[in-house]
Amino acid sequence: MSKNPEYRSQESGVRSQKSGVRSQESESRTSQTATRNQNIDTEIHLAGLALKNPVMVASGTFGYGKEYAQFVDLNQLGAIVVKGISLHPMDGNPPPRLAETPAGLLNSIGLQNVGLEGFISSKLPFLEGIDSLVIVNILGHTIEEYVVLARELSKHSRVDALEINISCPNVDKGGLAFGTDRQSTFDVVQAVRQVTHLPLITKLSPNVTNIAAIAQSAQEAGTDAVSLINTVLGMAIDIHQRKPALARIVGGLSGPAIKPIAVRMVWQVSQAVDIPIIGMGGIMNAEDAIEFLLAGASAISIGTAHFVDPETPIKVLKGIEEYMMKYQFHKITEIIGNLNIPKT
Ligand SMILES: Cc1cc2nc3c(=O)[nH]c(=O)nc-3n(C[C@H](O)[C@H](O)[C@H](O)COP(=O)(O)O)c2cc1C
Repeated sequence: MSKNPEYRSQESGVRSQKSGVRSQESESRTSQTATRNQNIDTEIHLAGLALKNPVMVASGTFGYGKEYAQFVDLNQLGAIVVKGISLHPMDGNPPPRLAETPAGLLNSIGLQNVGLEGFISSKLPFLEGIDSLVIVNILGHTIEEYVVLARELSKHSRVDALEINISCPNVDKGGLAFGTDRQSTFDVVQAVRQVTHLPLITKLSPNVTNIAAIAQSAQEAGTDAVSLINTVLGMAIDIHQRKPALARIVGGLSGPAIKPIAVRMVWQVSQAVDIPIIGMGGIMNAEDAIEFLLAGASAISIGTAHFVDPETPIKVLKGIEEYMMKYQFHKITEIIGNLNIPKT
């Protein structure tokens, strides 16, 4: 186990070389690396992937990519993580399923999506022309569903990696989310690992007592990276109607309110695993993103901020570059985990 960020990035480099085909493919996809300032190298290697920069977009907040193409040059993103895909199309939950709270968004969308076939036939073709990595977030209610999704998506060369959303209710275990239990986390990651050559990212839920232990289980089961955090369980009430704000009563909180929780969890996980971390949760600007990098994340994802300003990812990337220039960091990897912790 190493807490040294240099080691981590070297390790990722080795993984990238090992997966020969993917590495060549990634190389060509990153050939147009948009380092606007020549003294600055924002390229990041993680989970066998080469990202031109560490700025990604979080699943469920960026549609399937196309929806944001008119606002953002998709080619400038490190990676696009698409809306979670289930085996069959899902309508999601009844409205109201979004509620604004003072510092965040409460949602109970209920994983609405077009399903595996719909994604492959109607959403994936658009992404073919994009010079950015494509990561597909998968969700299942049984291990078998995750396995089928992983196996089928692995047949498509435009899919660069899979992100396993383990916040879904495990129907075989009475509905408790896979990601709230070490053993079920291990079981689902191991099962998916066995059927795919693609880099695997496991997306962790913050609704647990010890997120580092869950991250370790995912690592032991063969995930190449972890991403965190998903939304934090919350509830809001309309006091005039004396009704819960959401039809489902409880929902997932995202946005600025959860950022300190997310930064804390990224730091704790960075102390517990050797695999790279993708950090997210309330990133609204470059300063927020840099906090995550310093806490130990190798890349970051923008989520709820898209609903306020769709251009946030590009602004965050620019701000990270400015920070690097100001503090004379030449490589983005020099920032990762570069935290001064006073000795007590
Ligand atoms: C409307 C909405 C839909 C989401 N859908 C998914 C999803 O399909 N799969 C997933 O893993 N996470 C999903 N998330 C969680 C986000 O990807 C992200 O982890 C979370 O919102 C924290 O980041 P943020 O505070 O920057 O939004 C969703 C979040 C929101 C707000």
